Amino acid sequence: MTARPRHFLNLADAGGEAVALMLNEAMERKQRRAGKPKGAPDDDAPLAGHVLAMIFEKNSTRTRVSFDLAMRQLGGSAIILDSGSSQLGRGETIADTARVLSRFADAIMIRTDAHAKAVALAEYASVPVINGLTDLSHPCQLLADMQTVIEHRGRLAGTKWAWLGDGNNVCNSLIEAAYLMHFSLAVACPNGFEPDDTMSALAATRDEICFTEDPAEAIAGAEVVVTDTWTSMGQDGEDYRRKAFARFQVDEAMMAHAKDDATLLHCLPAHRGEEVTDAVLDGPNSVVWDEAENRLHAQKALLLWLFGKLD
Ligand code: CP
Ligand code: NVA
Repeated sequence: MTARPRHFLNLADAGGEAVALMLNEAMERKQRRAGKPKGAPDDDAPLAGHVLAMIFEKNSTRTRVSFDLAMRQLGGSAIILDSGSSQLGRGETIADTARVLSRFADAIMIRTDAHAKAVALAEYASVPVINGLTDLSHPCQLLADMQTVIEHRGRLAGTKWAWLGDGNNVCNSLIEAAYLMHFSLAVACPNGFEPDDTMSALAATRDEICFTEDPAEAIAGAEVVVTDTWTSMGQDGEDYRRKAFARFQVDEAMMAHAKDDATLLHCLPAHRGEEVTDAVLDGPNSVVWDEAENRLHAQKALLLWLFGKLD
C-alpha cells in the first residue's frame, strides 16, 4: 500500500513544529538567493522535474504568481487550470479531477469556494494537495504573514496581534496560527460576522486568544495589526457590509491605539478607503509589500515540506 501524501488544507495539517521549520527555511532560502534574477532557480534546485497543477475557481494575483515562481525557483514548473477553461467548470467531478491530475502533476493547489471541495480533492488525490484559499481558510497567507512578522519584529511567539474586520478565511487561519505558534491575538468583528466555530473553539483553550466587538479594545497595545476586505470573493451585500464594518476601518486614529512601531499586515488586494486608508496602507507601519513577496518564500518552504525535503 502506498503511503498517504502530506496535504496542507489548514495549518494544523503541518502542526507547529513543521510550520516553524518552514518559516526558518523560507527566511534562509530567501537570503541565499538574494541578487539572483527572479526566475533563476535556487542553486540546489531541490524540486527539479516536479510539476505543480493549480486549479483556480476564484480570481488571484499573488497566489497564482507566487506558486508559479516558487516552482520555477525550486527547479520545477507549474500548470494553471482556470475553472472556466477546464472540464471542472463543465461538471467533471472533483474526485475524477483529483485522479487525473495525480497522474500528471506531483502536487495540486486549489483555490475554490467550499472547503469541502479541497477536502475531497485531497481524499482522491495520490499527491499532496494545497489549499490556496477556500471560504473557510487561507493557510498559505498565514505562513507569509508569520515570516513577515519574524523578519520585522525578530520574534513570533509572544507577540501581540489584533484582527479588525470580518471573521473570514484569513481571520480563521490567523486564529489557527495563534493557537499553533503561541502568539497573542485579539479578534474584533461586528456582531454576525464572527469567525468559524471550529477555529474559534481552538481559542477557548488559550487565554491569549480573545474576541470582542470593540475594535479599539482589540488594537490597544498591539504589535501587529491585521485587516482584510469586508466583502470576500463570492459574498454579496457590499453596501450592507460597508455599513456594518464602518467602525472597524484601520485609519490613523485607529492605529494610534496600537504600539507606535506596530506592524500593519493586509493579505491584499486592499479596498483602499474601506477596511484600510491610504495613509495607513502606504504609511510607516505597513509591511504589506514584504508580506506579498513572502508568499513566494513561504510557499517554497511549504512545497519542500510537502515533498518530505524539510525534515
Ligand atoms: N492574498 C492573496 O491570496 O492574494 P490573491 O487573491 O491575489 O492570490
Ligand atoms: N478574504 C479575501 C482574501 C483574498 C485574498 C477573500 O476571500 O476574498
